[in-house]
Amino acid sequence: MTTPRLLQPITLRGLTLPNRTVIAPMCTYSATDGMASDFHLVHLGRFALGGAGLVIVEATAVQPQGRISHGDLGLWHDGQVEPLARIAAFLKQHGAAAGIQLAHAGRKASMQRPWHGNGPMNESDATRGEHAWSVIGPSAIAVEPGWLMPREMSQADIDVLKRDFRLAAERALRAGFEVLELHCAHGYLMHSFLSPITNQRSDAYGGDRAARMRLPLEVATILREVWPQVLPMFVRISSVDAVENGWSVDDSVAFAKELKQIGVDVVDCSSGGITTSPTASAVPRDYGFQLPYSQAVREGAGIATMAVGLIVEAQQAEQVLQDGQADLVAIARQALEDPNWPVKALTTLRTGEPLAERFSHWLNPYGWWLSRRAKLIDKLGPWQR
Ligand SMILES: Cc1cc2nc3c(=O)[nH]c(=O)nc-3n(C[C@H](O)[C@H](O)[C@H](O)COP(=O)(O)O)c2cc1C
Repeated sequence: MTTPRLLQPITLRGLTLPNRTVIAPMCTYSATDGMASDFHLVHLGRFALGGAGLVIVEATAVQPQGRISHGDLGLWHDGQVEPLARIAAFLKQHGAAAGIQLAHAGRKASMQRPWHGNGPMNESDATRGEHAWSVIGPSAIAVEPGWLMPREMSQADIDVLKRDFRLAAERALRAGFEVLELHCAHGYLMHSFLSPITNQRSDAYGGDRAARMRLPLEVATILREVWPQVLPMFVRISSVDAVENGWSVDDSVAFAKELKQIGVDVVDCSSGGITTSPTASAVPRDYGFQLPYSQAVREGAGIATMAVGLIVEAQQAEQVLQDGQADLVAIARQALEDPNWPVKALTTLRTGEPLAERFSHWLNPYGWWLSRRAKLIDKLGPWQR
């Protein structure tokens, strides 16, 4: 029997992922002062025990004002390294590669947690002691009426931002992460420079596509300089804005070609978020709704891609890889429902193999028992009343 693609290792520079399932970055809005806690260790550690090839830690802010909410993780000071180092070490000890997403929320910073309203902060947040802070962006255009008006970034702001991305990447490396992902999606700061909807600057950072790409490419270059040549770097993009006159898939292909030149290894193809709250959908949602973008970027720019978005079944993920739509498959909400999704998907795809072997890729404290129980259940047949 041929090994399912999802189970095949992939080598990116000097790093080999044991399989092709990635846990996508997911904010948990559970940090205090940007610090990771035992909650983050257990939450992320479950995905490593669950068999993921790579676990990417949630959007981690490079500046305090770049947090989406008061609960975001950060790497804006050295004290934030140690608890993240514990997480990176745990992930690696249990077979997953350790990744982290560096981010700045730009004009979508200073928001409520989703379950507190998912909008700009108000008096009810203040009663919990959570106050709004001022936000920055490429241009003074608010997300929607009633949202904070961002201050248009000066050259000095841009210089500080670039310094802070560099410092955060150095800290991520010190923490032991192996994959660095730059967040250029979902309407946050980097994406808001790319999109003509939010970037109406008249200096060298605004205007035509090349000028709008300038800051994200400068930041990507800085991160690539920091990140060792033997370790891979990813960039997450919103492949389309899906609004009139917005960023298009052709723009994404052009951006991906530039990223490839810089030495970015994988483009992680998401979409939307430019004009709306991060959880609103611009592109109609269906299973694998972002796959055409991943395929277009992969073929158009000749770069490896990661697919994400409503990929829920093992066979579906396998098909994505077999059809050449992506090199890696990321899952997010499905992993919240079942942190063992990666290892269960691999078991499912090995249906043709003897029972004992189908559990051989589980960690011993689980797999040893499950393979024996599977033989017993096979004899008993399904439970009946
Ligand atoms: C709780 C939650 C938090 C998220 N946080 C992030 C994040 O930190 N960075 C990011 O790029 N995307 C984030 N996303 C988007 C996911 O990474 C993913 O792209 C999206 O949920 C679609 O994949 P799914 O259908 O497998 O959930 C988040 C999604 C969820 C559900």
